[in-house]
Amino acid sequence: MKVGGTIRVPGDKSISHRALIFAALAEGASRIRDILPSADVHSTATVLGALGVPVPPLSTDITIAGRGPRGLTAPTGDLDCGNSGTTTRLLAGVAAALPFTSRFVGDASLSRRPMRRIAKPLREMGATVDVAPADGLPMTVSGGHLHGITWRSETASAQVKSAILLAGLVAGVEVTVHEPARSRDHTERILTALGATVDVLGATVRLAPRDRLAPLHMRVPADPSSAAFLAALAALATQGELALPDVCLNPTRTGFYAALARMGANLTLEHGEPQGGEPVGTVVARPSSLVAIDLGRDDVPSMIDELPLIACLAARAAGTTTIRGAEELRVKESDRIATVVANLRAVGVNADELPDGMCIEGSERPLRGRVQTHGDHRIAMAFGVLRALPNSEIAIDDTTCVAVSYPGFWDDIARAVVS
Ligand code: S3P
Repeated sequence: MKVGGTIRVPGDKSISHRALIFAALAEGASRIRDILPSADVHSTATVLGALGVPVPPLSTDITIAGRGPRGLTAPTGDLDCGNSGTTTRLLAGVAAALPFTSRFVGDASLSRRPMRRIAKPLREMGATVDVAPADGLPMTVSGGHLHGITWRSETASAQVKSAILLAGLVAGVEVTVHEPARSRDHTERILTALGATVDVLGATVRLAPRDRLAPLHMRVPADPSSAAFLAALAALATQGELALPDVCLNPTRTGFYAALARMGANLTLEHGEPQGGEPVGTVVARPSSLVAIDLGRDDVPSMIDELPLIACLAARAAGTTTIRGAEELRVKESDRIATVVANLRAVGVNADELPDGMCIEGSERPLRGRVQTHGDHRIAMAFGVLRALPNSEIAIDDTTCVAVSYPGFWDDIARAVVS
């Protein structure tokens, strides 16, 4: 299989959510270019609309009239977050500081995902938060009159950290979050760009009280989590080269590329001009012979969303790959440890679940079988890369779920393969 060409993958999902939220909380007109027009980002736009800040259709150049940190208004109905954990957890942080009641709902997958991890700190700040008995949604947040906190988070989660930072920002109180390891830092970067004082020391972040936010002017870089699928395809090819320009190369997000290089991939990251406060560059990926690696707890935060893809690459790498310290995968859009291992086995790969990860035995056997995505976009795309290989006969039960983060994924995969 030969790959070729230059593909600019769509805008970063994490940054797109934050750009909308901060534009709504800023004062005056914010302009966002190259936002990701995906289902998850659409959920954030819809919820902001329900909170009194209309967001235009997600096109390459949008302007949003911000209402100021405390300008959001009470919703008249439920806030439907669809499949999006980031929408729910970040906007629950905002809602916790506002003097009204908001009820968050979502699809079946989101309704099962843990919300106590944000309910606990938001309650400690003074909000009333009711989470569904089994944890998850529906979740009702009644806010207002918060006080500052210092919170020690049990998991390295940018969503938990951002919920607390947003609650502190909207309430105008000081907050400090300690994490066991540093999670992605897009919230801190945007806050700093908008004039807030954010102190970062190791895995601890402190936000000083702030009354106003300047409008946001940003171009959203391409998503490294989406580019990862195309880089993986190039690594598994036998000829050619794929260039992926404009990719966000924030070090809290590039763990996948470091791991792929450790697996022996012929990969270069060419740094360019920073964009919107984020390091950006071109990823060039070429065919390689891959070898197995061991990944542990320290590797996980900067590649958490790419671990299903690493597992699929491991199926084609010489030796046995082990992933540990990744129990967070069990509470993503699906239980990604169970889903990945079951699907690898379904296509003929020897793989085993571990409580906190998995083992995958690489082989050159043709891959044949049926993949069940459980509606999880990253499972569909990771196995979509294996499906594109010559001799693969893989059926994927739901190809439409890629719309959550990468609506043009199947077209881009087809474009990347030149023969
Ligand atoms: C995200 C944080 C991560 C990641 C998710 C997006 C964010 O989740 O898996 O896809 O935008 O803050 P956790 O905070 O649960 O680790």
